[in-house]
This record gives sequence, structure tokens and C-alpha cells, in this order.
Amino acid sequence: MEEQSSLDASEKVETPTIIEVVTNGPLRVLGPLEVKLPDGTIVAKPGPRTTFCRCGASANKPFCDGAHKTLPPFENAPT
Ligand code: FES
Repeated sequence: MEEQSSLDASEKVETPTIIEVVTNGPLRVLGPLEVKLPDGTIVAKPGPRTTFCRCGASANKPFCDGAHKTLPPFENAPT
């Protein structure tokens, strides 16, 4: 079954997506994007940045809510 997106398959992306790994913090994606949740809901994120939790403590997964700031430094994670 093909996943649905609001993107037109013919749209060309002119620039590469930039994802920043924040030291002891989230993954920060620059630019507008859409996030498809497990229930199929698509969340539009107009940018300029969206942060994704990589510590597991966010109450708003998959997005970062700043909860990582209360945790000790990440182990076994790049930077
Ligand atoms: S990385 Fe920010 S809450 Fe998990």
C-alpha cells in the first residue's frame, strides 16, 4: 500500500534537506516539512526548523519539547 502525502510526486527538491544533530539535544531539521504520524495523520511543519526528540523524554513525540534539558548527557549517541 502506497503511503499518502500532500506532496506532488513530480515536485523537485532543489536543495538537500539539512538535519543538524544538536549536542545532547534533538535532531533539528531545517525548512518546511510534513511529518506522517503512526496513525496516518500528517502534521505540516512550515519551518524554519522542526526538532525531533532523540532522548525519549518528550511528552510530544516525535517532536522535542525541551525535556532533554533535564537529563544527563546522552550516552551512545553521536555528540
Ligand atoms: S531531545 Fe528534546 S525532549 Fe528529547
